Amino acid sequence: MNIGVLVSGRGSNLQALIDAYKAGKIEGSIALVISDNPNAYAIERCKRHGIPYQIVLRQDFTSKKDFEREMVRLLKEREVELVVLAGFMRVLSKEFLDAFPMRVINIHPSLIPAFQGLNAQKQALDYGAKITGCTVHFVSQELDNGPVIIQACVPITPEDTEDSLSEKILKFEHKILPQAVKWISEGRVKIDGRKVVVEGAVYGTLPVNPMLEYSF
Ligand code: GAR
Repeated sequence: MNIGVLVSGRGSNLQALIDAYKAGKIEGSIALVISDNPNAYAIERCKRHGIPYQIVLRQDFTSKKDFEREMVRLLKEREVELVVLAGFMRVLSKEFLDAFPMRVINIHPSLIPAFQGLNAQKQALDYGAKITGCTVHFVSQELDNGPVIIQACVPITPEDTEDSLSEKILKFEHKILPQAVKWISEGRVKIDGRKVVVEGAVYGTLPVNPMLEYSF
């Protein structure tokens, strides 16, 4: 399966995917990375690993529709079958999502539906939550919502700062995102309304539920 990855910044989740593909843990390839930010460190990662990339800037298009159409065109040109939002900080329209029906996934640094939107780690700290985590979900038209594929939980300690908590969550992001992509590429992910079932997955073990099958 060919995947396309949309990024806006550092690209550590992109790196986790690159590492998983390079190690042969996921079959297929990262056919294209699109960045909406010309200064994203994610672009350096693409250069270093020989991954095709395109920079598509919102300001180069008169409308959001045209901006998204260009991204769809580039992804289709590379025969992308799954679009992965890995720190892509824009909300995609119905038109984009309709171009890849139930084939756009996102990683978010909270246990959704808690703490959607920006600065999810700070939101969890400020709220006084004792447990937070990260989620990979199919993208729907609602922000940081849509059927959940996999979640991992992370305890919040009194000493935690936004940085320390973000770092703890990120370690799990780097595990659950490649796992979700692997499951989808193996055709094991079934969606029934809001519920996602992964065929053959073993459930019930924390902190990641369902269990990771490989050490990503
Ligand atoms: C990650 O923590 C990701 O979960 C978050 O942005 C960060 C990107 O880091 N995404 C969102 O908050 C989406 N709502 P990265 O560029 O190092 O992968």
